[in-house]
Amino acid sequence: MTMFEGINGFEYASKEEIAAKQLERMKWSLSQAYDNVPFYKKIFDDHGVHPDDLNSLADLAKFPFTVKKDLRDNYPFGLFAVPREKISRIHASSGTTGKPTVVGYTAQDIDVWAEVIARCIRAAGGRAGDMVHVAFGYGLFTGGLGAHYGAERAGCTVIPASGGATEAQIQLIMDFKPRIIMVTPSYMLSLADSFDKMGIDPRTTSLEIAMHGAEPWTEEMRKEIEQRFDLKAVDIYGLSEVMGPGVGSEFVETQDGLTIWEDLFYPEIIDPETGEVLPDGEEGELVFTSLCKEAFPIIRYRTRDLTRLLPGSLSNMRRISRIFGRSDDMMIIRGVNVFPTQIEEIICRDERLTPHYFCEIRRPKVMDELTVVAEAKAEFSDDHMRGHLADELKRFIKNLCGVTTKVDVREPGGIPRSVGKAKRVFDYRNLADK
Ligand code: DLL
Repeated sequence: MTMFEGINGFEYASKEEIAAKQLERMKWSLSQAYDNVPFYKKIFDDHGVHPDDLNSLADLAKFPFTVKKDLRDNYPFGLFAVPREKISRIHASSGTTGKPTVVGYTAQDIDVWAEVIARCIRAAGGRAGDMVHVAFGYGLFTGGLGAHYGAERAGCTVIPASGGATEAQIQLIMDFKPRIIMVTPSYMLSLADSFDKMGIDPRTTSLEIAMHGAEPWTEEMRKEIEQRFDLKAVDIYGLSEVMGPGVGSEFVETQDGLTIWEDLFYPEIIDPETGEVLPDGEEGELVFTSLCKEAFPIIRYRTRDLTRLLPGSLSNMRRISRIFGRSDDMMIIRGVNVFPTQIEEIICRDERLTPHYFCEIRRPKVMDELTVVAEAKAEFSDDHMRGHLADELKRFIKNLCGVTTKVDVREPGGIPRSVGKAKRVFDYRNLADK
């Protein structure tokens, strides 16, 4: 039996079993990185640490962090720990600037990933024989293929719909009758609008479970989706550098945050300013060390995702609370920190607005200016009403976030719909022409 067998069912292991597995695998993963990737050998040596210095899980704090720039600097395959011929798949994410970040998987990595997604699907209430409509994008993005292999592993029938061609997707959902859909929450809302346009009540579909992730979303957004589709929506989290979707996932019974599959991905929360490890319960930046990846071991990777670690609920593995934002998405407006999710909460609470929105930041003179762009529902979309909604929204944002904004409430359909990850912040501060 290899150390990677026995993933199925391990989500219900005892705390002691989990900790023992973590330590054994962490030692293996540090060596996998140090022995096979010159970059890790160098940063460990520079830091004066060696994989043999790890005697307890807490010793991980002695090791250096890695960041996205390290992936870019080693583009394309410099961080692979196995010869290229042993890589069976590559994924990449484009990011906003520069070269994409590239990750690789051995056949065994793909296998482990499929197991872990199957675990997410079971946690979401899925079972063998269910039909799963995968509307995460297929391609270099990890969402589509990651979900696909996992759903097959869970014994499900997969519809590899990918993102886009929305009306055709709706036809497939109506004709094939899937029980589960895996899709970004923003694209789920685009689907809801298209159902309405096609004259089909989304509450009448066969869908019972939606697994949403790849972008931040809020409890308010969950309520909106659950009501519009009459189903249960659960959160699924992950990032390509650590594996892809499936690093953590919610149980449908509790819907109480994402259980991190910490037998495979070891989480820490750090103070983003100082790098100090924070105790469970405190908010900070999420950091991951992979415990089982052959091709692309990642050690103390700073995700920039902000959250906190919570004790386990249905599993002994710890949970994180919903990611409320990324440090790079935080808008600092005249000294006040604002996350798009705070704006989302306020918009989704107003029955007269659609849940679609984005934020623009400009600096017309010396001061930063935030404009929130929202959209009125058809019944509330005359000029007078939209002006009134904008005034109200401005007041709510001021009260709840402490920042004065401009608000533009557009007519229905005035905000472009997302087909994958929605872009919530457009920053025009350094562009001369805006
Ligand atoms: O988005 C992997 C994924 C696909 C996760 C499908 C879930 C579902 P990347 O493109 O590398 O990978 O982007 C990773 O997306 O660091 C978070 O900022 C954000 N993210 C992913 N899942 C969630 C979530 C995929 N459930 C980045 N809640 C991460 C909030 C999420 N943010």
